[in-house]
Amino acid sequence: MSGTELTAVARAMVAPGKGILAADESSPTIKKRFDMISAESTEENRRSYREMLFTAPGASKHISGVILFDETLRQSTSDGTPFPEYLANRGVIPGIKVDKGAKALAGFPGETVTEGLDGLRERLAEYRELGARFAKWRAVIDIGTGIPTDFCILANAHALARYAALCQEAGIVPIVEPEVLMDGAHDIERCGEVTSRTLDRTFAQLEAHRVALDGIVLKPNMVIPGMKCARQASAEEVAEATVSCLTANVPAQVPGIAFLSGGQSDTDATAHLNAMNKLGPHPWELSFSYGRALQAAALSAWSGRAENFAAGQSAFSLRAKLNGLARTGAYDQSMESAAA
Ligand code: 13P
Repeated sequence: MSGTELTAVARAMVAPGKGILAADESSPTIKKRFDMISAESTEENRRSYREMLFTAPGASKHISGVILFDETLRQSTSDGTPFPEYLANRGVIPGIKVDKGAKALAGFPGETVTEGLDGLRERLAEYRELGARFAKWRAVIDIGTGIPTDFCILANAHALARYAALCQEAGIVPIVEPEVLMDGAHDIERCGEVTSRTLDRTFAQLEAHRVALDGIVLKPNMVIPGMKCARQASAEEVAEATVSCLTANVPAQVPGIAFLSGGQSDTDATAHLNAMNKLGPHPWELSFSYGRALQAAALSAWSGRAENFAAGQSAFSLRAKLNGLARTGAYDQSMESAAA
């Protein structure tokens, strides 16, 4: 793929009115989600749950791409169409999670570095054959006493940049995801300071590794108080703090920024995105790449039962639609009850 093609895919991933579904939970993570609804995490249940999401009527109007896990990329719809082919036929771009998870960073208690670079070139070539046109790598930065260290941020930024360079070499658009966690009691200012430092080091490494910034999608956290912080913030405060952090750190060549939801409620994640787009225009598209905030309602409506397939689909389609509206600031909280 040429640089122009990479840019075209990156732009399509953040096309106006649309966003990305993160459905790339690893086997241990999807088991945790299924445990919450007392469903067994069998290969068939995982396949059937993902089929429910991918085939939801109307959802593809608001979903530009789906991030898949290795197992899902190789699975098919119940009538035998491989998932990547099914999605591509509907104009939804298939993507793949390629990192191997955040592992303890030796010598730095409480901090992690994301692994998965060994053999990545070969894995990317296979994933492209299987239909993936973009990839995801998640770095995790935790806030606590004395952390994050500059070294942890640098180690993660370096790995993200090596991954991104390998993706572009393989003709795959890298989603660059440095996630500053919202666990903990820190305030919004501290989240802003750590996010700013993380993005600054990440872009320095991307440039040092000669990554074409017009052929990536950035997937950051929003600037938000920790879940245990006594002073929570309004949607407008989150929007202003996040946009000002991004403006200071994200070059205008980046076509789009697709936020993770990170443990926010689904309605908060939509309201925050909406408030940010109301502050526009911005140099980049401001979009979503939510996992939990797109799936929570669908997962509980489905509850692992075949007879709830349609109910799960309408719960998912509703969140996709409302987040699609938040892409232009056209969402309003009253739409939640009107739709219920
Ligand atoms: P959440 O939106 O649930 O944070 O998931 C997004 C994601 O892909 C995390 O890597």
